[in-house]
Amino acid sequence: MSAIEKIFTSAPGRAVASKAGLKDPPQLRRGRTWPQGAIVLADLNGSTVGRETLVLLGRSFDSPIIDSEDGDAPGYGAKIGAIVVDATTLTTIADLEKMRAVLRPAVRALEGSGRVVILARPAAGDWEQRSVTRALDGINRTVAKELRKGATSTLLYVDHDATPSDLLSTMGFALQGRSAFVDGQTWQVSAADTNVNQLHDTPLDGRTIVVTGAARGIGAAIARSLAQAGAHILAIDIPPAGEALAEVANEIGGTALQLDITADDAGTKIADHIAFRGLKLYGIVHNAGITRDKMLVNTDKARWDSVLDVNLAAQMRINEVLLARRGDGGIEDGGRIIGVASTSGLAGNKGQTNYAASKAGVAGLVQAMAPDLADRAITVNAVAPGFIETEMTGKIPFVQREIFRRSNSLSQGGQPIDVAETIGYFLDPASQGVNGQVVRVCGQNLVGA
Ligand SMILES: NC(=O)c1ccc[n+]([C@@H]2O[C@H](COP(=O)([O-])OP(=O)(O)OC[C@H]3O[C@@H](n4cnc5c(N)ncnc54)[C@H](O)[C@@H]3O)[C@@H](O)[C@H]2O)c1
Repeated sequence: MSAIEKIFTSAPGRAVASKAGLKDPPQLRRGRTWPQGAIVLADLNGSTVGRETLVLLGRSFDSPIIDSEDGDAPGYGAKIGAIVVDATTLTTIADLEKMRAVLRPAVRALEGSGRVVILARPAAGDWEQRSVTRALDGINRTVAKELRKGATSTLLYVDHDATPSDLLSTMGFALQGRSAFVDGQTWQVSAADTNVNQLHDTPLDGRTIVVTGAARGIGAAIARSLAQAGAHILAIDIPPAGEALAEVANEIGGTALQLDITADDAGTKIADHIAFRGLKLYGIVHNAGITRDKMLVNTDKARWDSVLDVNLAAQMRINEVLLARRGDGGIEDGGRIIGVASTSGLAGNKGQTNYAASKAGVAGLVQAMAPDLADRAITVNAVAPGFIETEMTGKIPFVQREIFRRSNSLSQGGQPIDVAETIGYFLDPASQGVNGQVVRVCGQNLVGA
């Protein structure tokens, strides 16, 4: 800890920081925990998908209080834990007032780490209807910014054909503490014949999953979290990180493989390893990544090539091999591929042209692959972490780090487990309807959309 960091984190330092408006950030509810207060369901215009999904999740729910025309609703008697607004049947601009009328009393009553979950249909129909779809996105992003004490807001676009079974894992994730650092985000759930009727605590039981860059930081958290969800982990990292890698693998009863993912034969080595042990590969999490930051005018070819190769090209080469080696150490049908992008890639970040290219490239890659692999029921998704507390970000000078930490709606850095939980949600067999999505795990970072 640097001298300046010691001052800021001491009791007097925190008192000064608080006077300057830098209050202690809220403690976030994490894990497979449900909202503590009541869940309120507002099914506008008689829609049913939200109601049926909550029933499937075994959650009871209350009716909403509707704000009156003069804005004088009676209010909830106690704090509420969450409001689910099923807006899947809203089609007109006039309809949008219903969002205000149900959200206003609920937002007032929402407890710390509470949840707003809005369900809508993907853009379709006439001009007005399409504009309404987008208006809901504006509502979600703004509500997320206005919520306090670690409460978050999520907008889910639910395909017309998607069933409550297809939506189950996503709604569960959005309501539970697993989504603690996912705020103001929007993604889509499609029809997928998911055919599940409950959430499991160990949905990855007996499945083998590769995690790259698993020796430390976010990768180690992913490996631990997936192992807790029942998976057998093949943990990969470069040989110099071999000792730390072995520790992680031993701790979780997994296997370690020292491998530089940029090696030409990396994909083959992974598939050989899986096949030799008689395992079936369910999924891969491409977490390994590096930064070589410089302003573009100072970025030489070596800095460019190394970042693009580790963060993007290596993943593509490995995917190609693992998809080709069907039944021989490659990814099985019904499997999962997960990329790790970054908000720097989606929004751009000064001094990181190479990194941003690689991470936006990851987002492009999953969106390109997803439809092509749908006939094998393999889903391809990515997380885009914002500021996460790891050794990588620990190297940023303290004051700059503190600014990054607080530049989001939750006023704090995320934890590696927050990224791991989102990846676990993608990997869940119940998330079959989630494909080609990029979900930011950034506390609604002010950088970018
Ligand atoms: N920490 C953050 O705030 C943040 C934000 C956005 C995205 N990310 C992304 O999350 C991922 C993990 O980040 P982190 O903060 O834990 O980083 P980290 O540097 O702590 O860990 C990265 C791991 O990848 C391994 N690795 C690097 N090159 C490799 C190679 N060629 N072959 C195999 N392994 C290799 C490293 O040895 C290390 O163990 C990275 O892709 C990073 O870009 C991190």
